[in-house]
Amino acid sequence: MPRKKLIAANWKMYKTPDQTRDFFRDFLPLVSGHTRDEIVVCPPDIDLATAHGSAKGSNVAIGAQNVHWKPEGAFTGETSAAMLLALGITHVIVGHSERRQYFGETDDTVNMRLKAALEAGLTSICCVGEVLEERESGLTDDVLRRQCVRAFHTISAKKAAKLVVAYEPVWAIGTGKTATPELAAEAHAVIRREAAEVFGDEFASGLRILYGGSVKPENASSLMSQEEIDGALVGGASLDPKSFAAIVKY
Ligand code: 13P
Repeated sequence: MPRKKLIAANWKMYKTPDQTRDFFRDFLPLVSGHTRDEIVVCPPDIDLATAHGSAKGSNVAIGAQNVHWKPEGAFTGETSAAMLLALGITHVIVGHSERRQYFGETDDTVNMRLKAALEAGLTSICCVGEVLEERESGLTDDVLRRQCVRAFHTISAKKAAKLVVAYEPVWAIGTGKTATPELAAEAHAVIRREAAEVFGDEFASGLRILYGGSVKPENASSLMSQEEIDGALVGGASLDPKSFAAIVKY
């Protein structure tokens, strides 16, 4: 079965509720009737309700950028999977490199978040990727394998049904430097092999692996034409409705 591509916007810490409403007003007509790919927008939590309301009945799903592993509790600043589900949210990003870099996210907390998200039935986009020094030292494959093994720890293939992995080389995020399609495809193959080790071959062959890192309308089609690349996780270029629509329609 061919893997349906997933094109996801990660808005990071951009846009207010009003700006979110404006985005959907302009974006939805540009992608209406587009069924070839799954489209997801992940705004900051403060915009989730507005985004969900604006996208209701459309072909665009809404995701969060993070999720806590407990259903509720004294965890200031966090949001649980149950809370996301209550709002109608279907997707979530877990373990983004900015969380790992600036907010103390570790392989272990990524694993706990991922487990909770999958158990709640959220389509969970687990991010992995090497920093520049690791690539230059020839450690990329080791880093990707370690991040995957630790993220997937004690998750069964059955529980992982809604798992998606995003390969985001940290040196390509927000830098304008994109991994070449060939280089991205090589990293995706490493991730798929690791997924096969953990979850089995059949699961791995159906697993969607997205590429993220300076995806733009100009480079989307060459990246998406790689058989190993099953979609994109787009930061900066997803903030503008025209530019994100152009990526969706690569
Ligand atoms: P940019 O597309 O801005 O490089 O960001 C990529 C990213 O981090 C998506 O999660």
